[in-house]
Amino acid sequence: MSKHLLDFKDIEKKDIEKLIDVTGKLNPEKTDEISSISLLKFDEPSTRTRLSFSVAAYRLGIKTFESSDITSAKMKGENLKHEIETYKSMGIESLVIRTKEDNIDEYRKFEDISVISGGFGTSSHPTQAILDATTLDKFNKLDKDTPVVYIGDVKHSRVFESGRELFSLLGKKVGVFTHESFLPDDLSNIEVLNSWDEVLETTEAIELLRVQKERIKDLGDSDLDEYINKYQLTDEILDKASEDLITLHPMPMNVGIEISEKASLHKKFKYKDQLSFGVPSRIASYMYVMEKI
Ligand code: CP
Repeated sequence: MSKHLLDFKDIEKKDIEKLIDVTGKLNPEKTDEISSISLLKFDEPSTRTRLSFSVAAYRLGIKTFESSDITSAKMKGENLKHEIETYKSMGIESLVIRTKEDNIDEYRKFEDISVISGGFGTSSHPTQAILDATTLDKFNKLDKDTPVVYIGDVKHSRVFESGRELFSLLGKKVGVFTHESFLPDDLSNIEVLNSWDEVLETTEAIELLRVQKERIKDLGDSDLDEYINKYQLTDEILDKASEDLITLHPMPMNVGIEISEKASLHKKFKYKDQLSFGVPSRIASYMYVMEKI
């Protein structure tokens, strides 16, 4: 029976710790080769996830092929069972899926092929959460008794959903600071903060999330300027923050909306450290589903 990495619902704490440990320590140029074939099926745009899975596979000696809904027979009404049977008949052993659909459970049941989430709807992006946690660990924030605080469009964010699952398993607290329209429906075990001052008093780790311009209409009476005024991370906020504060962003970021130009260049903004764990997190994920770690 093949292993999946779709989210963190069926995974043990020790396996998460192993994924973070391997992501933090491995040298992508010195990995043992795995002879296998993987299909990358991305039905939404992606720069980081798609390419880092390609590079991770290259480093591991895994041959990748790419497909998408618009180039596959799904457009002719083929169902997922027949699609997966076809992949398996060709010797494909793993799929990496990015889709706008929240249909993760349809994939969970397949037994002879490993499925890794490269981002499902608003519900899952586990390899991003692994690299985020690895970045926190690098700066000694993972074991701190302070929450990681998500700011931005939390409600529609698969990065937040996977992050809260992962941090919950590790016993790390999670907070949010955002407009009420962007609060998640499920606020259980989430600390809701109400101002930047509260954020800076409460945490040493912020994760900014992208605010899509098309979502601004969800803010009700607030418009984009009001949103920016209250929630944008600026260099003044970062200057005022403790030297211990770090800020993350999964990217792509909208400079000028959730973060100002100057803040995007600030030394407390660690997105390049996150980027450096993109390929290692995907190597670790392939190794996990292929039972190499
Ligand atoms: N962080 C992230 O998932 O980026 P991409 O959409 O470019 O893959």
